[in-house]
Amino acid sequence: MHKWTVAQARRPEAVGQEAIVQGWVRTRRDSKAGFSFLEVNDGSCLGNLQIIAPASLPNYQSEVRHLTAGCSVRIEGQIKASPGKEQATEMEAYKIIVLGWADPESYPLQKKQHSFEFLRTIAHLRSRTNTFGAIARVRNQLCWAIHEFFQKEGFIYIHTPIITASDCEGAGAMFQVTTLNLEVVPRSEGGSVDYSQDFFGRPTYLTVSGQLEAEALACALGKVYTFGPTFRAENSNTPRHLAEFWMVEPEMAFFELEDTMDLAERNLKYIFRHLLEKCPEEMEFFRQRIDPTIIETLQKILESQFIRLSYTEAIEILLASGRSFEFPVAWGKDLQAEHERYLTEQYFKSPVILYNYPRTIKPFYMKLNDDGRTVRAMDVLVPKVGEIIGGSQREDRYDVLLERMKEQGLKIENYWWYLDLRRFGTVPHSGYGLGLERVLQFATGMANIRDVIPFPRTPGNAEF
Ligand code: 4AD
Ligand code: MG
Repeated sequence: MHKWTVAQARRPEAVGQEAIVQGWVRTRRDSKAGFSFLEVNDGSCLGNLQIIAPASLPNYQSEVRHLTAGCSVRIEGQIKASPGKEQATEMEAYKIIVLGWADPESYPLQKKQHSFEFLRTIAHLRSRTNTFGAIARVRNQLCWAIHEFFQKEGFIYIHTPIITASDCEGAGAMFQVTTLNLEVVPRSEGGSVDYSQDFFGRPTYLTVSGQLEAEALACALGKVYTFGPTFRAENSNTPRHLAEFWMVEPEMAFFELEDTMDLAERNLKYIFRHLLEKCPEEMEFFRQRIDPTIIETLQKILESQFIRLSYTEAIEILLASGRSFEFPVAWGKDLQAEHERYLTEQYFKSPVILYNYPRTIKPFYMKLNDDGRTVRAMDVLVPKVGEIIGGSQREDRYDVLLERMKEQGLKIENYWWYLDLRRFGTVPHSGYGLGLERVLQFATGMANIRDVIPFPRTPGNAEF
């Protein structure tokens, strides 16, 4: 007999076939005519499989009539055409085996709608709900589309280290990795921590970005991308920040900033098109439950060209807006969420690629423009979520880079190898980082980034 997922059993072609289906009961209804309906879900799709459990089953009274939400079952039966409008098929059970009971007194997922706040406290179970099941499937398709996009564009998938000694963003917001006994930290004579006794013989951290190592590989292989978890120890308790998030980082030799903007725009359009094609059920669910404009928004993005605007022009627009922002606008200040939202939601009503930011608010590795005041940075901003991509052309001139590193107070000796890339066959090159969870938030309309990753890590929270 076939072992089918619910998705397979729901296909109209399945009618007439016998199969085994396994999953978790969502609901049970008993009909007066002496049989029961079970709704079973296994996460393979949004829809449930409706099971008809006849009273003639040997365990009908003893077990089937006691099934409740959360119980796991294995069902053997025949797929029939369903008279219902909601689904093409249903299954008539010959045999129902209860794999695991779920005490209805303590099983926390009851039929009523639960708040996202509550569901975060049961993150180990929330993927059994429609919303979090849909998020998981959309996340899967997004990752698939990302790989497909870069592979089609001729990129080589690389792996950059998770443990590193360098602070890519120079922001100092890193988690330290150590095997030193924190109760009795070894000290050198001057009183400072003696890192020669630590595992790597030096201070090490979880990476904030794979960019620096990706640059080394791009300067050998041409076009590469790394895709992995990154870590930020910023104390940002916002709906857009995680302490652990996933980032896709393409890095391209011989790319100028404009090439990089083109790539980022193609990248986003490719993955949104893929989502609309591969996840129609989930996207319709998000349209109905989360954001009524979500499908329209994504479709419009596929058809439109992103606005490209220099930071200086953006400041002029913000100053001329007549708005009183909470954070005052001035050339040289970083843009806050409210400014990004004004530009993307009110002024342009479109994604915006902002470029040429002031050198003082961007990391050391960005290429200095001839004006001496701005760097070749680019951020892709979208309505509601704000920045989803951050990137730049890299400083490829040894002297200028060294100067910038000193200016920003970096420990030059840690970056000797990075500087070497400018000593030996330096080339213009560029790259960006796409925040997977930010993109997922934008694509689904989910308001809080904690709800688009299965087990969120945020300040004060590492449960599960
Ligand atoms: O702008 P960021 O900090 O850029 C970099 O790390 C570069 N080294 C990337 C590169 O050029 N290779 O981060 C890139 C993206 C942001 O645009 C945002 O989407 C996401 O990563 N991001 C976060 N997502 C969730 N939580 C956080 N705390 C994030 N910080 C950045
Ligand atoms: Mg950024």
